Amino acid sequence: MIARPFWSMAAACVWSLGTVSTAIAASAPPVAAENGMVVSAQHLATHIGVDILKRGGNAIDAAVAVGYALAVVYPAAGNLGGGGFTTIRFADGRKTFLDFREKAPGAASRDMYLDKDGNIIKGLSTVGWLAAGVPGTVSGLEYARKKYGTMSRAALIEPAIKLAEDGFILDQGDVDMLASAAADFRKFPATGEIFLNKGQPFSAGQRLVQPDLAETLRSIEREGVDGFYRGKTGAAIVKASRAGGGIIDQEDLDRYTTRELPPIECDYRAYHVISAPPPSSGGVAICEMLNILERYPLRQSGWGSAQALHDEIEAMRYAFADRSGLPSDPDLAGNPSQRLIDKSYAAKIRDAIMPDKAGISREIRPGVAPHEGSHTTHFSIVDDAGTAVSMTYTLNDWFGARVVATGTGVLMNDEMDDFTPNPDTANAYGFAPGDANAIAPGKTPRSSMTPTIITKDGKLVLVLGTPGGSKIITAVLQTILNLIDFEMNIQEAVDAPRIHQQWLPDVTDAERYALSPDTSKLLEGMGHRFEDSPPANHLAAIIVGAPSLGGKAIGRNRYYGANDPRGGTGLALGY
Ligand code: GLY
Repeated sequence: MIARPFWSMAAACVWSLGTVSTAIAASAPPVAAENGMVVSAQHLATHIGVDILKRGGNAIDAAVAVGYALAVVYPAAGNLGGGGFTTIRFADGRKTFLDFREKAPGAASRDMYLDKDGNIIKGLSTVGWLAAGVPGTVSGLEYARKKYGTMSRAALIEPAIKLAEDGFILDQGDVDMLASAAADFRKFPATGEIFLNKGQPFSAGQRLVQPDLAETLRSIEREGVDGFYRGKTGAAIVKASRAGGGIIDQEDLDRYTTRELPPIECDYRAYHVISAPPPSSGGVAICEMLNILERYPLRQSGWGSAQALHDEIEAMRYAFADRSGLPSDPDLAGNPSQRLIDKSYAAKIRDAIMPDKAGISREIRPGVAPHEGSHTTHFSIVDDAGTAVSMTYTLNDWFGARVVATGTGVLMNDEMDDFTPNPDTANAYGFAPGDANAIAPGKTPRSSMTPTIITKDGKLVLVLGTPGGSKIITAVLQTILNLIDFEMNIQEAVDAPRIHQQWLPDVTDAERYALSPDTSKLLEGMGHRFEDSPPANHLAAIIVGAPSLGGKAIGRNRYYGANDPRGGTGLALGY
């Protein structure tokens, strides 16, 4: 194994809730509350969400306020200049999914990131204006608020404006994130002016004030989506894009709309899963893996056992191979989602999985390995009535394309990098990826974001999601298994070390302590290969009823939240 840096966490087998449980040692108790719960990646944003719930807002109101607030206090991934997904389940059982992911500008073309020999030009799809897709966040937040919220735009946006105008004191976690992109901030003066302190990285205890962003938020407060896509802000984005070699024009901004789609749904044991449909690959992959795993005795095998890990790794391998052929855009013909989440299809895969031997990825199916940026953010919210919002949104990489249109304070995404830039060219594994995720004008790139909600007998039991690129999908899967099969409580399920297999490359990533030495040996004997991997997720989860599935409530509390200790800035808080 190759040693890599590691952020935090201690794990081992322990006694839990009076029964033997292969769970995490010394997991903090989940945060318990009676009336509502918010878990987000930044503590100030969590407080804003809880405040909205306390003032009588529903979960959608709180999500909109948290979404705007994170654009201010979590600029690495919270955003106005990116896009995302929201899975909603209403207290009466209705459910829906909002797609406000970025779209390729009208002038985008299949080969726009290739040189004349068909090679990818490094950095063109990740840094600078050509990397930016047409942003969807403001459209998505306003769509959600108008259709499903109850509070005024001003009430939901004002807390974010205050944080941008007055500034907020940076903690060490905030400063560490800003420092990670300091070199890039220096390359773009309009960005450096905001996120550097007179050319130097900020220190903990200093105040980050964002007057331009406050002005943009005010303009959204006054005019709604037009305050972002049109007028002064829209014009500034178009002007800066042109000057910076980008292709976003006013027509692209005018055309942007949020799509409301039916979520992907499936059953796993006694539970019902509601998750993200294409353009995400997440919900399909989660359902495919759960269908495969349903017939394996994971509970008897035990958490961390070689057998359970083998079963999980093989389910991941097959689902990620299929994922490579998923079209990124649900509007395009030939979407195989329903076939892939059929139980009979899972049975065929189980027939192909050998019980004691690792599969060989390159023998499974051609396509392209996942490569979504891993720097996203997720928040989970449940309100007093039981309406649940699971929202993941992103700039793709930390601080996106690192560019800001002068005078707007808005960081732009580098979501164009989630397309497959060279669909005709065989990759390192000898496979040509094909057209499913090729760039086309107006098209949405494929995503791994997997905001998920789980019910049982028609009642809400779980809300969860995470950043992490392709590791989003496997982190959500393992958290579900930790709760349903391994009977952990919500915090233990979030804390537990994770593995990640994505078909290509044919090696399984393992967080520290995920594999004991003798488990590794057993699995390596079956043909598995492992690599140490630093944590990539910041999971935000809420369980309803009790800290664990089928467990007992603590006092009158109905909601139990878990913030992932892998991130340094988040908070679970209820009231
Ligand atoms: N850019 C991260 C994702 O969409 O999965």
